[in-house]
Amino acid sequence: MSVRHFLDLGDYGANAIAAMINDAIDRKAARGDAPKGRVDHDAPLAGLVLAMVFEKNSTRTRVSFEIAMRQLGGTVLVLEAGSSQLGRGETIADTARVLSRMVDAIMLRTDDHSKIEEMARFATVPVINGLTDRSHPCQIVADLLTMIEHGKALPGLEVAWFGDGNNVLHSILEAAGLMKFNVRVATPAGFEPDMDFVSSARSAGATVLLTQDPVEAARNADVLITDTWISMGQTDAAEKRAAMIPFQVNRSLMDHAKSDAIFLHCLPAHVGEEVSQDVFEGRQSVVFDEAENRIHAQKSILLWAFDVLGK
Ligand code: CP
Ligand code: NVA
Repeated sequence: MSVRHFLDLGDYGANAIAAMINDAIDRKAARGDAPKGRVDHDAPLAGLVLAMVFEKNSTRTRVSFEIAMRQLGGTVLVLEAGSSQLGRGETIADTARVLSRMVDAIMLRTDDHSKIEEMARFATVPVINGLTDRSHPCQIVADLLTMIEHGKALPGLEVAWFGDGNNVLHSILEAAGLMKFNVRVATPAGFEPDMDFVSSARSAGATVLLTQDPVEAARNADVLITDTWISMGQTDAAEKRAAMIPFQVNRSLMDHAKSDAIFLHCLPAHVGEEVSQDVFEGRQSVVFDEAENRIHAQKSILLWAFDVLGK
């Protein structure tokens, strides 16, 4: 049977994503307050090793995959580009073939999306996208889990995005098409998401509003989301920062949303830039639930990639 890579949410049906979320809810509940390093009773990935390859920085993705593998009974190893032969020009294709002989799955965080596609083309073990310049699917499984935990049923949900039309937004748009929620995207002119993601979400039945008016996006929204104005690898330009200022998620913007709306941010946050201090620390902010949920989401993604889920 072909290897189950996890490159983008849109590659899989809604059933796969729903199975991951349901499994994450069940496993999270079953653990209760168990110590973080304790292995789940069924240890479904016992004996398996995940290699995590980083060409960019990470805190949450790295720690959550490590703890997820530990809880599932497996182990991990980390390869940083700077200290491996990748940093000296060894090809992704050769790295994929070598790692496939040595480990059971590969997670890659990289810049150009074509690199993860190349890794998947040459690997004979599952390859998981730990973020590229184009998408961040693992983050969005955690975000969907967080929305559901906070009482938001996905179909018909009004999700509003503010700021840069980036990799995280692209994965939200893929999820919208699959899970049938709507997305209002408020960005400055010139910082819109890739229209391929917008068109795909629309053809899958999601309503996607593109606007330069943050209030229009926030009005009666159920979920408000933002992210850094300058993603890893992007040029930190003064003009971009200036254009982003009106898109800060602050108290006055939140006041246009539903009174029970929640605020999400994949983190790391730049408080005072894309989000104000009062919103970040306020009662509607669920950003640390969201961060914790990276572990629970990662476990389901791993189980899916290893063909334990969704059989
Ligand atoms: N949200 C997220 O992916 O965080 P890290 O960059 O710390 O992994
Ligand atoms: N858009 C951000 C997400 C970080 C988790 C970046 O790519 O840097």
